[in-house]
Amino acid sequence: MSSKRELIISKIRDGVVIDHIPAGRALLVLRLLGISGREGGFRVALVMNVESRKLGIKDIVKIEGRELTKDELNLVALVAPTATVNIIRDYEVISKFKVAIPDVIEGLLKCKNPRCITNQQREPIRSRFRVLSREPLKLVCDYCGTIHELNDIEKYFGLA
Ligand code: CTP
Ligand code: ZN
Repeated sequence: MSSKRELIISKIRDGVVIDHIPAGRALLVLRLLGISGREGGFRVALVMNVESRKLGIKDIVKIEGRELTKDELNLVALVAPTATVNIIRDYEVISKFKVAIPDVIEGLLKCKNPRCITNQQREPIRSRFRVLSREPLKLVCDYCGTIHELNDIEKYFGLA
């Protein structure tokens, strides 16, 4: 995809390009990575609704100047299972991988059961979910057994 008409936003020098995000999900991807735009110190570019051979239309997110681990990047798969991560160094793609939903998700999501021990003020326990199914997405809280689906995650990140 190096044709000039793809270059709505220029190539980046060092950072991460998350490509092949289903159209409309770029903001959700940023929220999931904990990027709100208020942090400062790094640059983010969003490309929304561009043509893709594989997906019809897609979104792209480019992040410069912030380190993201492979584990953090794999969380993107929760909301954008088709996404590809490209690690960029000195303008070159030095590695590329397809995101994959991990088996266990710790500390990132809040259980929707208000009585769950992970939601008790006096006893803050890190949340932990196990993946029951990837398609459709089904996560189970390790503490109370409540099942969470994609739209629970979207609600949690404020975009449903
Ligand atoms: N990219 C970028 N800055 C760079 C290098 C690449 O923003 N310095 C972006 C490209 O615009 C593209 C993505 O990173 O969106 C992946 O780049 P590349 O592997 O060159 O593109 P494709 O071959 O089209 O990728 P794929 O096969 O994964 O579709
Ligand atoms: Zn729970």
